[in-house]
Amino acid sequence: MDGNGRWAKKRGMPRKMGHSKGAEVFKRTVEDCRELGIKYCSFYAFSTENWQRPKDEVDALMKLLDSYLDDIQTMARKNTKIIFLGDKAPFEENLRLKMIETERGSAENNGLHVLIALNYGGRDEIIHALRNIAEDIKNGAVNTDELDEQLFEKYLYTKDIPPLDLIIRTSGEQRISNFMIWQGAYAELLFTDVLWPDFTKKHLMAACVEYAGRTRRFGGV
Ligand code: FPP
Repeated sequence: MDGNGRWAKKRGMPRKMGHSKGAEVFKRTVEDCRELGIKYCSFYAFSTENWQRPKDEVDALMKLLDSYLDDIQTMARKNTKIIFLGDKAPFEENLRLKMIETERGSAENNGLHVLIALNYGGRDEIIHALRNIAEDIKNGAVNTDELDEQLFEKYLYTKDIPPLDLIIRTSGEQRISNFMIWQGAYAELLFTDVLWPDFTKKHLMAACVEYAGRTRRFGGV
């Protein structure tokens, strides 16, 4: 969801206004995904590196997240399963509890799956998985010989979630920036100049059409 800051700057507004608009667009896009029959959609809302931003911007994002977690709980009522990717430990207790509650409350839902990456980094996720695997090897729950891709995936935040089909990055940047690097190994990539706050259902549908026209070979011929 890149480009919130630039969207605001273009309008002479503070960056946090861009995030506010971006959060609205997040909510609308979830509904667009639902209407289009998409089963899984993932959003990169806050990276492990985003804590380095100025304190007032981080504070504004946390405030926004707090208010949107209530909307996310409402989403969960529409048979939507909500999963947060990332280490919840650094968040304030009320945010952490809301996240845990939302995940628990929607765990049995089997409609649209919404994955929200918060304090997430792909490399960090891999290290987190490795630590837990090492622990399980030490306590005898896992045998080193058993370790393969399938077993490794069980230790990722995306346990039981299929790999990514399509990654859309907005705002003209053409890089992955540590987003689901394991799960996106064979994902199709789509880069658009549209800033996230300007992203609409029309852009989402165009992305689906573009994806449908791609040939996926997964290393084969
Ligand atoms: C990147 O744009 C965006 C972020 C770091 C934050 C994304 C967060 C939201 C859209 C709102 C919160 C989300 C939820 C799930 C409620 P940028 O700030 O890097 O923009 P720039 O590249 O133009 O500076």
